Amino acid sequence: MAKSERIQKQSWKPGNMLAPIPAVLVSCGTAEGSKPNLITIAWAGSVCSDPPMLSISVRPKRYSYDILQATREFVVNVPSVRQARATDWCGMVSGRRQDKFAAMGLTPAPSLKVKCPIVLECPLNIECRVRKALNLGSHTLFLAEVVAVQVHAGLIDAKGRLRVGDAGLLAFAHGEYFALGRSLGRFGFSVRKRRRKA
Ligand SMILES: Cc1cc2nc3c(=O)[nH]c(=O)nc-3n(C[C@H](O)[C@H](O)[C@H](O)COP(=O)(O)O)c2cc1C
Repeated sequence: MAKSERIQKQSWKPGNMLAPIPAVLVSCGTAEGSKPNLITIAWAGSVCSDPPMLSISVRPKRYSYDILQATREFVVNVPSVRQARATDWCGMVSGRRQDKFAAMGLTPAPSLKVKCPIVLECPLNIECRVRKALNLGSHTLFLAEVVAVQVHAGLIDAKGRLRVGDAGLLAFAHGEYFALGRSLGRFGFSVRKRRRKA
């Protein structure tokens, strides 16, 4: 039987089916101005290597939206499975009514380059400065430059490489959270020559 007969496809209406994607805790606001807040974002992605840039997409009705527009700074805090519950919860309640850091027992710690705090417990913290805000429809895309990165020191090996497999990162796919699975190989493994046995 031909492959095209064995693998049947169904047509679905256009939608955001890209998966897996990260679900991140974005911090914004400052102690002096609007108090620091957290918003869970799934519409986030890397968009440029040099300069390093990423984007987050936010609905204008979110409490965080006005903070982002006013301060033009945020931190993408990449959660581990230990922060899975906090990641979900911060996406269910608004900072208009709750101090999400306090409610989830998360620690706001100083950023290196921006004024809003990082989430200390998250293994990776990516500090960003907004370059452009683009209204796309339901969401506004904040295109931002990465100005600093903080990494849990315990995840860095003797050669200075990030042991990402030990970070226990979260993945999000079609409304569900997953723990990242086993490694299948490093970047370029498909073209790398196998070492000959001695
Ligand atoms: C897993 C997950 C992903 C989410 N992704 C987004 C997103 O990409 N953009 C957005 O505007 N809201 C997103 N939300 C909803 C906001 O996080 C949610 O409305 C939050 O309560 C807003 O907080 P705020 O009012 O304090 O800003 C997501 C929620 C969850 C649980």
